Amino acid sequence: MTTDTTGTAARDGEPRPGGPADSPFVRACRREPVPHTPVWFMRQAGRSLPEYREIRANVGMLESCRRPDLVAEITLQPVRRHGVDAAILFSDIVVPVAAAGVDLDIVPGTGPVVAEPVRTAADVERIRPIGRDDVSYVDEAVRLLVTELGDTPLIGFAGAPFTLASYLVEGGPSRTHAKTKALMYGQPELWHALCARLAEVTLSFLRVQVDAGVSAVQLFDSWAGALSEADYRRYVLPHSATVLSGLADAGVPRIHFGVGTAELLGAMGEAGADVVGVDWRTPLDVATRRIGRDRAVQGNLDPTVLLAPWSVVETEVRRIVEQGRAAPGHVFNLGHGVLPETDPEVLTRVVALVHEVSARRAEQG
Ligand code: CP3
Repeated sequence: MTTDTTGTAARDGEPRPGGPADSPFVRACRREPVPHTPVWFMRQAGRSLPEYREIRANVGMLESCRRPDLVAEITLQPVRRHGVDAAILFSDIVVPVAAAGVDLDIVPGTGPVVAEPVRTAADVERIRPIGRDDVSYVDEAVRLLVTELGDTPLIGFAGAPFTLASYLVEGGPSRTHAKTKALMYGQPELWHALCARLAEVTLSFLRVQVDAGVSAVQLFDSWAGALSEADYRRYVLPHSATVLSGLADAGVPRIHFGVGTAELLGAMGEAGADVVGVDWRTPLDVATRRIGRDRAVQGNLDPTVLLAPWSVVETEVRRIVEQGRAAPGHVFNLGHGVLPETDPEVLTRVVALVHEVSARRAEQG
């Protein structure tokens, strides 16, 4: 018996019945039978919630990510309010990069901004490997949360090498990723050195979260859809595979997500995921044919649909639950993050509707 403060590891490696590793969310990730389709929302912990805006009123984004008490409170807010099937750690993809020594900030309304964008091998060398002590606030926050959450699973996450590299090379958000691609095509050796270093930092960051007790991890490669499949396989997949295969023995499901990735779904599964995130452009039955039956899917409501009248939301939610039945496992989510202007009450209603529709269908067999 391993130490089981988390409920993720239990006697003989079997999940504790009813514990987080036996939750509908983790079971769906593992393609096991579930009592209802589990649901959570990317960016559920954030600006659509008034209680979040209140907490963050006088605290910078990076500072709030480094305060375990705030991280725990913000992570719990959407769980209390919506009754989602999983919590996601409140943090940001650039948190480990900052811990690795890169001078950056998260600017409200813009996103991550890097003081000195990466241009040379010396810039890559300055990105230090990280260990638990560099992100002890994350270790502490996860441990607090695992206790508070009880049977509700906590999802840990990190940014994938391509998406992180994009912020580091551009210096901030970019629509075209032009500087990133110029470096990738023009200086492939430097590109691979940068991505290898970022894969190392990302893997360490996820290891800290797994060791502290998260029940699943999600690797966000939000901007991978900017690449063709051939270039994705050549320049990106090997580095994401380093991260995902590095967690193969961690005993928690690995979710791999990107936006605009219709052409990459198969490759993103092959990179070593248990679950592939799908955006709203690809119906889940079509996505399942591309990904194969040995992985589950997560998605894929268009976040802008939540701004439409409820009748529209309801039709779309029902369609997605139905199409998700073609997959060997389905975690209901949005196709990308919750938009700040979303009415939180609509999110609560979506959770209830997904549970209701999927439970009834399960009874009918
Ligand atoms: O999902 C969650 O609820 C957990 C929290 C979370 C945040 N960022 C908090 C955050 C997660 C999972 C992320 C991941 C993240 N960060 C990604 C991948 C997911 C995606 O959306 O594609 C990316 C690309 C980033 C980089 C980043 N950080 C962006 C683009 C922004 C938005 C800029 C803006 O203000 O519109 C951020 C800032 C950020 N990260 C906020 C939050 C709650 C907003 C900060 C604020 O409240 O001022």
